[in-house]
Amino acid sequence: MHTTVIHTLQAPGVQPGPQEAFYQDVVRGLTAMPKYLDSKYFYDAAGDRIFQQIMQCQEYYPTNCEMEIMTEQAPQIARALAAQATSFDLVELGPGDATKSVHLLEQLMKLKADFTYYPIDISTNVINQLEKTLPQKLPGLHLKGLNGEYFEMVQRVAAMSSRPKVLLFMGANIGNFTPVMARKFCRQLRSCMQPGDVLMVGFDLKKHPQVILNAYNDAAGYTRDFNLNLLTRINRELGADFDLDKFEHYPVYDPMTGACKSYLVSLEEHDVHIGKAVSIHFQQHEPIYMEISQKYSLGETDQMALQTGFQPLTCFTDSKRWFADCMWKA
Ligand code: AVJ
Repeated sequence: MHTTVIHTLQAPGVQPGPQEAFYQDVVRGLTAMPKYLDSKYFYDAAGDRIFQQIMQCQEYYPTNCEMEIMTEQAPQIARALAAQATSFDLVELGPGDATKSVHLLEQLMKLKADFTYYPIDISTNVINQLEKTLPQKLPGLHLKGLNGEYFEMVQRVAAMSSRPKVLLFMGANIGNFTPVMARKFCRQLRSCMQPGDVLMVGFDLKKHPQVILNAYNDAAGYTRDFNLNLLTRINRELGADFDLDKFEHYPVYDPMTGACKSYLVSLEEHDVHIGKAVSIHFQQHEPIYMEISQKYSLGETDQMALQTGFQPLTCFTDSKRWFADCMWKA
């Protein structure tokens, strides 16, 4: 049996809607060799819930490490930012529930820094939630949530105000890019910034390989469920017939390159259908490449800054030196 695809016709110049883009990305990934899926699609409602469980499980250290940095070093971080500009816009890419950045916001307000907080997220849910809860936690905070794509929204803030910018990209979300793509992303951010603007990026650092592997192979199986949930989402939203029992979660970590990758491995030769038009053939033991979570050394983060138009200022690390929030100047 061969993989067959009947392509959907689309008028030239017409932008695909979100569901159309999801379909096209899934079909493109599963008909490629080797097969892959984009981890940005992990986060549907069920995926968000499973990710919460991952963050609470014992093996997944990054959340606690970055939380330690933000609770214990927020005063220093706030002072370092205030030293760069007296009046600025604080733009956060992918704030989540802002449980980490709230400590920084609090300290900046304590310093009487003159700033407006602009959280940017593609999820309306995230933005609505922040606009509801943050003013209660931090009375007097200037807040404007922006719902949309990162670069579009960063450019919108730049058009709204000429104040210096501080951009936050925390949570090691940069790890979901390969180093090549991460550099491209940083250069693209840099092109939206003015000289003197500040970027703070969260990096998960290289450490004992077993610690890293365990974080993506937790005993309770949350990370397995997180990966398998994307197949469930494809079944539900794109009318596919993935049998989850035919796939096994297989994470690997390479201490040389710092790449932690997750695969779903097909346990037997079989076919999967997406709607009526697409049939995907799996060999026994064939992997789907699901996600990269890239780890860096502190030296590599400095290099990345220098290669993408920034000057590294300082890195704030947790007591175990497992995680770093790095401050760079454009
Ligand atoms: C949200 C990208 C930081 O790569 O560690 C957690 C996502 N994947 N467990 C990470 C994730 C599997 C997470 N980031």
